Amino acid sequence: MNTNSTLLLSLLIFSTLLHSSLSDLCNPNDKQVLLKIKKALNNPYILASWNPDTDCCNWYCVACDLTTNRINSLTIFSGDLPGQIPAEVGDLPYLETLEFHKLTNLTGPIQPSIVKLKNLKFLRLSWTNLSGSVPDFLSQLNNLTFLDLSFNDLSGSIPSSLSKLQNLGALHLDRNKLTGPIPDSFGAFNGQVPSLYLSHNQLSGKIPPSLGNMDFNVIDLSRNKLEDDASFLFGINKTTQQLDVSRNLLAFNLSKVEFPTSLISLDLNHNKIFGSIPTQLTSVDLQFFNVSYNRLCGQIPVGGKLQSFDNSTYFHNKCLCGAPLAGCKLMTTRLESKSLPLETPPSTKHFAPGSRTLALKP
Ligand SMILES: *[C@@H]1O[C@H](CO)[C@@H](O)[C@H](O)[C@H]1NC(C)=O
Ligand SMILES: *[C@@H]1O[C@H](CO)[C@@H](O)[C@H](O)[C@H]1NC(C)=O
Ligand SMILES: *[C@@H]1O[C@H](CO)[C@@H](O)[C@H](O)[C@H]1NC(C)=O
Ligand SMILES: *[C@@H]1O[C@H](CO)[C@@H](O)[C@H](O)[C@H]1NC(C)=O
Ligand SMILES: *[C@@H]1O[C@H](CO)[C@@H](O)[C@H](O)[C@H]1NC(C)=O
Ligand SMILES: *[C@@H]1O[C@H](CO)[C@@H](O)[C@H](O)[C@H]1NC(C)=O
Ligand SMILES: *[C@@H]1O[C@H](CO)[C@@H](O)[C@H](O)[C@H]1NC(C)=O
Repeated sequence: MNTNSTLLLSLLIFSTLLHSSLSDLCNPNDKQVLLKIKKALNNPYILASWNPDTDCCNWYCVACDLTTNRINSLTIFSGDLPGQIPAEVGDLPYLETLEFHKLTNLTGPIQPSIVKLKNLKFLRLSWTNLSGSVPDFLSQLNNLTFLDLSFNDLSGSIPSSLSKLQNLGALHLDRNKLTGPIPDSFGAFNGQVPSLYLSHNQLSGKIPPSLGNMDFNVIDLSRNKLEDDASFLFGINKTTQQLDVSRNLLAFNLSKVEFPTSLISLDLNHNKIFGSIPTQLTSVDLQFFNVSYNRLCGQIPVGGKLQSFDNSTYFHNKCLCGAPLAGCKLMTTRLESKSLPLETPPSTKHFAPGSRTLALKP
């Protein structure tokens, strides 16, 4: 081998080394933190690609920002991840998306170090087996646009401070074991009004009337133990599309309610709602409607979508009538009594004239 080719070879080796280290876009601190997270989770199979010899921007379940090359996303779902959320997740300061989803062996509390992630926009810890409370510190994550803690074992009450989150587009706390009332402050989101999902908990007491000040796109309070009034959630000038308060203990007069014409889905089933179905509802283009198992009465208004639903939308009420249920009893009774003389069964012919006059009285 002559000196020229030796030189060439070493140049080649050198440039390869140079290239490989330059191509490692990953921030060394981020890489170290991720390797600690992997270790804390006992090297699960789902993180097998987290090999220290490769660029962490190429690892599964993470993403780097295209300009800063800092880890901005950690999303782990559908794997066997026994244990708790490692505290080290709080040491990825550029994280905007954090997601642990469908990991039923993930237990313990919502990791307190998450409070350090001030750039967090999307936080989903759902379909896991997390317990403890919904932490107050979440309200410090100003940039959150999406917060989903649904399908867990979270207990205690909902922190009222969550209404400080000005950029929140959706709040999912459904399918937990939350107790106590809905915070009054949920009627005072200043900034964006989030779609609110609080169903399948054990929330109790009255729905704060302050919620009437908000124009929720979606509000789902179903399957709780909420009492009394909910009429203030409606309003002709709102733009609500989905409203579900089914399976609670609500008791209010529906007759005076004015429905937003934007409503697509309205579920009131299994409450103690009384009064009648307002005619104005015929001008709402509903795709889903259910008022079954209440104490409603009177004729189902004719028109709009109201006759397009089957009788299960209306059944088990006090005295609702008209299509798609049977005709109204009052009308039927009058028709029957008017037609009585024509259809008098033979036996009634022997009745005293006095009693027949009585039967014909309007
Ligand atoms: C949770 O752990 C149990 C026991 O180790 C295991 O059988 C199960 O498959 C795990 N669940 C998931 C979703 O991986
Ligand atoms: C969640 O944890 C409980 C015990 O805390 C356990 O009974 C249940 O199976 C777990 N859920 C799943 C889906 O693994
Ligand atoms: C987070 O919010 C602050 C203001 O609260 C803002 O200055 C910052 O740019 C936001 N960060 C991101 C990543 O949007
Ligand atoms: C709804 O908006 C119209 C037009 O802006 C207004 O005249 C009316 O008073 C509002 N109704 C209610 C109940 O706020
Ligand atoms: C419900 O409100 C309507 C309209 O104001 C009223 O006529 C009706 O008596 C009320 N129903 C009950 C049961 O209070
Ligand atoms: C509802 O409709 C079904 C099918 O048309 C009918 O069998 C049933 O008797 C009806 N129930 C009531 C309560 O009207
Ligand atoms: C309405 O709700 C009742 C009670 O959950 C249910 O049995 C019925 O099928 C529902 N009907 C429709 C049309 O959703």
